[in-house]
Amino acid sequence: MSSQSDELSGVAVHERVANAVVRAIAEGRYRAGDKLPTHRALAREMSVSIGSVTRAIDTLSARGVVSSEVGRGTFVRQQAAPPGEAQGFVDLSINAPPPLVSAGQWAEASALANERALLLPNGGYVDFTGTPAQRAVVANWIGQRRSPMAADDIVLVNGAQQGLHLAFAALKDVVRAVITEGASFPGAIAAAGILGLPVLPVARDDEGPLPDALARLLAETGPAAVYLTPVCQNPMGYETGPARRAELARVVADKGGYIVEDDIYGIYSTKPGPLYRDLVAERTFFVTSFSKSLTPLIRLGVIAPPAAFMASVRRRMRAESWGLPPLTAELGAAMIETGIADAVLPVLRTEALARLEMTRTILGLGAMPMPAGAPHVWLPLDPLRAEQLARRASEAGLRLGAPSTMQVGPEPVGGLRLCIVAPPNRRQLERGLRILARLLVEDEEVLV
Ligand SMILES: Cc1ncc(COP(=O)(O)O)c(C=O)c1O
Repeated sequence: MSSQSDELSGVAVHERVANAVVRAIAEGRYRAGDKLPTHRALAREMSVSIGSVTRAIDTLSARGVVSSEVGRGTFVRQQAAPPGEAQGFVDLSINAPPPLVSAGQWAEASALANERALLLPNGGYVDFTGTPAQRAVVANWIGQRRSPMAADDIVLVNGAQQGLHLAFAALKDVVRAVITEGASFPGAIAAAGILGLPVLPVARDDEGPLPDALARLLAETGPAAVYLTPVCQNPMGYETGPARRAELARVVADKGGYIVEDDIYGIYSTKPGPLYRDLVAERTFFVTSFSKSLTPLIRLGVIAPPAAFMASVRRRMRAESWGLPPLTAELGAAMIETGIADAVLPVLRTEALARLEMTRTILGLGAMPMPAGAPHVWLPLDPLRAEQLARRASEAGLRLGAPSTMQVGPEPVGGLRLCIVAPPNRRQLERGLRILARLLVEDEEVLV
């Protein structure tokens, strides 16, 4: 066991030790009733002081994770069954990080958020784009990791989903369609659909849309919103490299279109280089959120529209919801300011990588588009077989998203998306993958 991934995180040592023990339990290395190593052994193993281990164990006792018995030692308590486990199914249909924020971290961030929220003017009816202080914290955090931005460049929104909807809505009267890959994120398809914008597929390879094909399509449609996910495309999982990004940005600028850049999986990026927002700022609506990099419990999202569209995005945000709940915004900012968001990132990436390896091994997969870890994996299959497998999997206790919900254009979707970080622990993921491996073999036998 190691608290290494929390290194440089700014999180207190005892909290890091507590997190490492919680992770070890989540990964099945300690089960209910198991005795933990002595404080001295844990201190040696994690290279921390015995005092830090004692504080960590006290914290975990208070949270009901372990119980200490005088003269006998510390034991793992029976945990409430994670979602799905009690019902006996494994859910690989929804992309969400496992619960990596500990109860102690929630308490710490909530305390700060409550303190700040109680000081907000007008009982909390503040600027509906987020207060300047909240926006500054969020813009700075994203700016340092993805694309430089200032507080006034962004609007805080209810999840990336609202960000996408606001972007398409702002473009509704200046574009004729939304263009994206033949398999795309159902939420984006829904957002375009409700605004009456047709969604058209563009030919792609394993790095994203093909620039020539996009140029031809834009020439046919006239101005369009091109919905692009530079990192870990949903559902196909690939990352678009810098050269392709530059080519696509050039095509969109030449043809007078706009880019809606969905960077929600940006924290998994392995390729360097500027994002679309950096390449064609005046034509790019940048959207992201903390749902995939921290937790969807807050649903704190961000839109950074081109400057010329800021007023229209603000007007719509005001009309739709007068901003997101101020307490949510404070909680998101507090997660950043306490260092918790930074502490979770390396843990999440390490977890995703371990789960990717597990998936590769159990399903016997070859090269992966995101070798450094990804929250979802694409399993290419004949379209009919993919749809049937999703149905049969659900009867066998495994939930998979129906490929048809991701379809754009006439071609049925040829594959299954496996949300490998979704199960609360690796044990559940393994169970789900084994069900899928069995179904794949049975399926082959039937085909033969
Ligand atoms: C590519 C993509 N964009 C946006 C979203 C929506 O995220 P949020 O929960 O922040 O609304 C998701 C969620 O699954 C997604 O996969």
